[in-house]
Amino acid sequence: MLDPKDRLAVALDHPDAYQAMKLVDSLGQTCQWFKVGMELYYAAGNDIIRQLRDRGFDVFLDLKLHDIPNTVAGAVRSATKAGASLLTIHASGGPAMMTAAAEAAKAPGSPRLLAVTVLTSMDDAQLAATGITASPAEQVLKLAKLARQSGIDGFVCSAEEVAAVRAATGPQTLLVIPGIRPAGAAIDDQKRIATPAQAIAQGASMLVIGRPITQAKDPAAAAEDILSEIAQSETSLKK
Ligand code: C5P
Repeated sequence: MLDPKDRLAVALDHPDAYQAMKLVDSLGQTCQWFKVGMELYYAAGNDIIRQLRDRGFDVFLDLKLHDIPNTVAGAVRSATKAGASLLTIHASGGPAMMTAAAEAAKAPGSPRLLAVTVLTSMDDAQLAATGITASPAEQVLKLAKLARQSGIDGFVCSAEEVAAVRAATGPQTLLVIPGIRPAGAAIDDQKRIATPAQAIAQGASMLVIGRPITQAKDPAAAAEDILSEIAQSETSLKK
């Protein structure tokens, strides 16, 4: 059984390293994984990864790479040197790009790659406007299968898609799910949400949670509650 701490990444959606590290410090050793996205990374650079690594934490670098194969492979190598343990790329970059990224990620110490299929902000109309006639659900599965064939065995997807992606990609795939809200928590700007227990029951490997922890009066207590919910959910699945 995976340690619940390895199934929770706290999203550090902060504008600078000072505010991010203040939150990290308030969590003590409660959490092991932190997600650094574009906002924080473009402000704080590799130094934020180093600071987190120096404190013994793992970093999920959410940069959603999408460029020509050679450039993305180089970015994977740079993220390896920076110390990221998980790194996102866009599946819509195509099979050559994903294969180049997967090749680059075979080097020792490389991050595990996660493919982003269709952004959850894309509905039928948004997708159609880009020339794709498939529905978002169909496109997610098509890109997930393509990513698997290209050597990528992890995905970021919403709780709504997790069961279908799990069924299509098998039990070993790493499925990382944002849009999680504990029962009773503020929904904020998320739309299709699931509780930690629901997401785990539907096949999630890891949950990404931001504001329910980062905006809580007591972030460590909020994280502890979520970790217990993850542990309980896993225990009840095993029964
Ligand atoms: O604060 P909250 O829990 O809503 O944060 C969720 C995190 O997951 C944010 O960093 C957000 O950018 C990210 N995310 C998301 N939905 C996606 C992909 C990523 O909310 N489809």
